[in-house]
Amino acid sequence: MIKKAVIPAAGSGTRFLPLTKAQPKEMLPIVDSPTIQYVIEEALQAQINDLLIITGRSKRAIEDHFDRSFELEQQLKEKGDLKLLERIQQIANLTNIHYIRQKEQKGLGDAISYAEQHVYQEPFAVLLGDSVISAEESCIGQLIKLYQRFGASILAVEEVPPDKVHRYGIIKGQKIADDLYLLEDLIEKPKPNEAPSNLAIAGRYIFTPNIFEFLKKTPKGKGDEIQLTDAIKLMAKKHAFYAFKFKGKRYDIGNKLEFLKTNIEFALDRADFRDEILKFLQETLDKHQKAVENRQ
Ligand code: G1P
Repeated sequence: MIKKAVIPAAGSGTRFLPLTKAQPKEMLPIVDSPTIQYVIEEALQAQINDLLIITGRSKRAIEDHFDRSFELEQQLKEKGDLKLLERIQQIANLTNIHYIRQKEQKGLGDAISYAEQHVYQEPFAVLLGDSVISAEESCIGQLIKLYQRFGASILAVEEVPPDKVHRYGIIKGQKIADDLYLLEDLIEKPKPNEAPSNLAIAGRYIFTPNIFEFLKKTPKGKGDEIQLTDAIKLMAKKHAFYAFKFKGKRYDIGNKLEFLKTNIEFALDRADFRDEILKFLQETLDKHQKAVENRQ
């Protein structure tokens, strides 16, 4: 059983500036909840209830979000908004969350190494905060099932077009079953002509604890940072490590355009917004169409 998950949330969010100048990127909203809440809910769905968030400077809003807020609860009680009160209390009661701070921003690999004492000698899950995944069975749950079958580390991948490989860690794998690969090589953010495939790491992993041994040996890589992908590359030379093309849809919140599209898609899924959003989209499209016709 996988009982522990690590959620790195220490990165500075430069890809989202200026919005992330004074607020954590993990608090960017998807409709009315911060992205990190969706990620935590995915872990809980897979029966993981011991969470460690790796934070850093200027990330206090994350801790406040998952804490009680007695003043706010009191205000909602006085206003009689019991539905919202219940939702706010639910967030604080989601689960036990532990926090540790990454002292310096030395990369994702370095951030994960802060989890060593907490996870100790158990296998554990890692969920990256900038990927929100909607799936019938949670993506991390799909990986856990495969971990139980093979007893080896595994990560989730998805196919991406060639012009997007430079955004992700790309794997080279030997196909051993439908959607399942044995890792042979990995490259973090390759140029399109260097990419060994179109299978991108999707921000979900299950690790056996010997990943820490390899993280310690990993030199600085892309962007002068200690890359998790490079540690996995070292580990895959010594231990079986699998990649699974998960079933579901991944939303890349680390990218501004994808973030905007995600908000529209999630709003369309909500009964309270669907009709109004559809009407707005239709009207906006018509207006643009007319403007194009007038220019011709
Ligand atoms: C990280 C990983 C990369 C992975 C990506 C998924 O990159 O290093 O391998 O494909 O997350 O979102 P980052 O987005 O932190 O630059």
